[in-house]
Amino acid sequence: MRRARRYLAMATILHLSDLHFGSHLPKLVDAVVERAAIERPDLIVISGDLTQRAKTVEYEEAGHFLGRLRDNGHEVLAVPGNHDIPLYNVLRRFLSPLTRYKKYINEELCPFVELDGVSVLGLNTARSATFKDGSISHEQIRFIRDTFAGTDPDHVRILVTHHPLFALPVGDGELGAPVDHQQDALAAIAEAGIDVLLAGHNHRASNEASELVKGSGRALVIQAGTATSNRVRGENQSFNMLVVDGSGVTVTVESWADGHFERADRARFRRIGDHWQLGDEPVEAPADPADAPSPMVLRAPESPAKGKAATKEE
Ligand SMILES: [Fe+2]
Ligand SMILES: [Fe+2]
Repeated sequence: MRRARRYLAMATILHLSDLHFGSHLPKLVDAVVERAAIERPDLIVISGDLTQRAKTVEYEEAGHFLGRLRDNGHEVLAVPGNHDIPLYNVLRRFLSPLTRYKKYINEELCPFVELDGVSVLGLNTARSATFKDGSISHEQIRFIRDTFAGTDPDHVRILVTHHPLFALPVGDGELGAPVDHQQDALAAIAEAGIDVLLAGHNHRASNEASELVKGSGRALVIQAGTATSNRVRGENQSFNMLVVDGSGVTVTVESWADGHFERADRARFRRIGDHWQLGDEPVEAPADPADAPSPMVLRAPESPAKGKAATKEE
């Protein structure tokens, strides 16, 4: 077992997801750029679905958005989502699925960034062969292990994917599908000592952060809603702000309301040994970790949607 970490980190991360350029709302795009300029995070993470249908014009708009962020001095780490692979152009879908992504977003599909005290790895879980579900290959699982094995043992380790690795809430009591090879991915996450998993896809934020599904596991699971699209599902557009400090992580959910993003919820999580603890409330640990491999998950609340309901194809 790894020795206890010292957690020397103090980094801020703005977590965006599911921008869906092509089905985006320009006012929200501008609001995100403005908030990022104010917050000045150390890193902006975008966990996939940058476009709606992977069209060139949509990628151009997404690329322009990234250019605005970079012009403002931000570092950005992005991964592709299922919508970033062409859906209807079958030839392109299977022969060159992410050519446009590489041209307009990033050549690197699994980017890695190291901040002061924090290591962040992005992984591409989008696949041409599936319509909306994600997958992690055994090669990627080895890549997770190898990448984090080379990082400072005291760094907080964060893994970013578009598809949640675990079944997370997507609607009224409904759970989404986990990625393929989930058990192998779980083992790799545990072995690599990953502390935080960031994902999107479900268009459901970690609102009501104190409403936890109490499980066990080493990883704190945080999902972001859609930041800028009209494809809302049960809640408004949102993004997350993470502050990673010497003893834990503070998560703030900023939701769109009355023409601006405002704080919807905030929760602080402390690392206690191999588990996370919310505030002063201890999280129940199972007698046998193998009995409850699910990590602590932030659960989204029910709230009235103001935008168009999205389909299940997120
Ligand atoms: Fe998606
Ligand atoms: Fe999406």
